[in-house]
Amino acid sequence: MRIPDYFEFHNSVKLLSGFKAISHIPFELKNLNSERPLILTDQTIKKLGLADKVLNAFDGSGIVPVAIFDDIPADAPLNKINEVAKFYRDNNCDSLIAVGGGSVIDSAKGVNILVSSDSDNLMDFVGLDKVSGKLRPFIAVPTTSGTGSEATLVAVITDTERHIKMEFISYNMLPDVAVLDPEMTESLPPHITAATGMDALVHAIEAYSGRQKNPISDVHASAAIKIIAENLIPVVKNGRDKKARLAMANASFMAGAAFSNSMVSLTHAIGHAVGAVSHVPHGVAMSILLPWCMKHNLKMAESSYAEVLTFLKKIEDVVALSEKERAQACINYIEDLLVELNKICKLPVKLGDAGVKKEDFDEIVARAINDGAVVPNPEFVDETIIKEILEKAF
Ligand SMILES: [Fe+2]
Repeated sequence: MRIPDYFEFHNSVKLLSGFKAISHIPFELKNLNSERPLILTDQTIKKLGLADKVLNAFDGSGIVPVAIFDDIPADAPLNKINEVAKFYRDNNCDSLIAVGGGSVIDSAKGVNILVSSDSDNLMDFVGLDKVSGKLRPFIAVPTTSGTGSEATLVAVITDTERHIKMEFISYNMLPDVAVLDPEMTESLPPHITAATGMDALVHAIEAYSGRQKNPISDVHASAAIKIIAENLIPVVKNGRDKKARLAMANASFMAGAAFSNSMVSLTHAIGHAVGAVSHVPHGVAMSILLPWCMKHNLKMAESSYAEVLTFLKKIEDVVALSEKERAQACINYIEDLLVELNKICKLPVKLGDAGVKKEDFDEIVARAINDGAVVPNPEFVDETIIKEILEKAF
């Protein structure tokens, strides 16, 4: 294993993982010296009764959440972040609990920047390492298993007026605590379970094969890949399988911790653009693009993909293969997995089936080539290559 001359790894998130894990939230808040939490969630999560489950966890604890803001829209829009920050201040809150998917958790990260720095302008904090000092106590309770936002230093927030997604990147934004409880994900429908699970798999594979990989992120990524290989199909077939749900939540967290330190690469660069231009859900874009981006990267990432195969399959199934054969078999495995998911829950396997139009390609290419995720990609990338990948995935 090659050890980089220099690398950093940071994950300060305390993890609570298991059945009834949400019942420990009040104890964790007390540890954080907080007693006036604001709960952030969205309408879907509220209707599913998941916000109430978190509220009920406070019964008899001596802490009563001050308020619930239950109207976080998709894509974490900038104007909503300001509104929630005002709500937080008006209610004299002292901490945040995000109950939701990536948009809710990223919104909470944005709100936490504003309320901790006493600012009204989130634009002052766009980019890398603009958030200084310790933020307010923050607990993330993910209701999907995919974005890994509960374990990452990134928040993606949308400027809806300028139609751009902005990245805020700082270790100070990591949640203090992440709570993985299978009760919070068991009502996810199969196609969202599949798409978000594939997002986690892409995080792990891209972290493991990218130019910024390091031994510590490799450990997290390889464990995530093994767990996803064992549990994704079972949990898509039976969402009430609580053990598989908990396994996928752990995989998502570990994949998040891996890419938070080693970054993601080409699949995400193109996928971000496909999402922004053609409004394809992130996990769907990830699953469609992954095999095509791996094929492009095959030569430079051959040894990584060969190792990834050993996490995906039993050792007796791969032991006779050369490194080159293992790397190709890794891509074949992903393609077979996508065909199976398509059969089970209609997860699209082509961009054309996911709503992308050929006339979108030029704008997608222009955005993708400027995405930061191009930088750690193992193989050279230019506009022509991205267009070819889009054609093939169409
Ligand atoms: Fe992703």
